[in-house]
Amino acid sequence: MNREEAWALLTEYNQEPFHLQHAKTVAAVMKWFAQKLGYAEEAEFWELVGLLHDLDFEKYPEQHCQKTAEILRERGMDESFIHAIVSHGYGMVSEVAPEHVMEKVLFAVDELTGLIGAAALMRPSKSVSDMELKSLKKKFKDKSFAAGCSREVIQTGANMLNWSLDELLETTLNAMKETEEIIAM
Ligand SMILES: [Fe+2]
Repeated sequence: MNREEAWALLTEYNQEPFHLQHAKTVAAVMKWFAQKLGYAEEAEFWELVGLLHDLDFEKYPEQHCQKTAEILRERGMDESFIHAIVSHGYGMVSEVAPEHVMEKVLFAVDELTGLIGAAALMRPSKSVSDMELKSLKKKFKDKSFAAGCSREVIQTGANMLNWSLDELLETTLNAMKETEEIIAM
């Protein structure tokens, strides 16, 4: 499956702008991390996993992850692709733990990109471009801000990667700064 086909599949199951935006953000950030972490040849794979990770969430929230696995199997997708997607629900809706570094990154950035995106919307610029790590850390600590973005999941993701929380916040903020224009397209 190429990006165009993945996008067609995504929009077959998702129409809400918020969901499409989240998919595009996680896709771009995953691709950025692939390049950053020495997985440039797998960048498209990381990107497509990011794009489709919440494929089922708009229409089948009760069957989150399982329904995506079903849809992707019907389309003949590779089991490694399905494993990656299902593992982002680990500890919540899935028993499949992230193993590959790509899966750990997905687990860590899924909620965090939501938090950073929400923080950006509070800024006069409506952008991450002028956001400092210090202000992101404040938003992270303020549990009433974007309460739907689980701080626990973000912390667990950092632990899985053996990164400090600050390292994860800073790198993901950089990823979003460098991909903001691509995501807006
Ligand atoms: Fe997600």
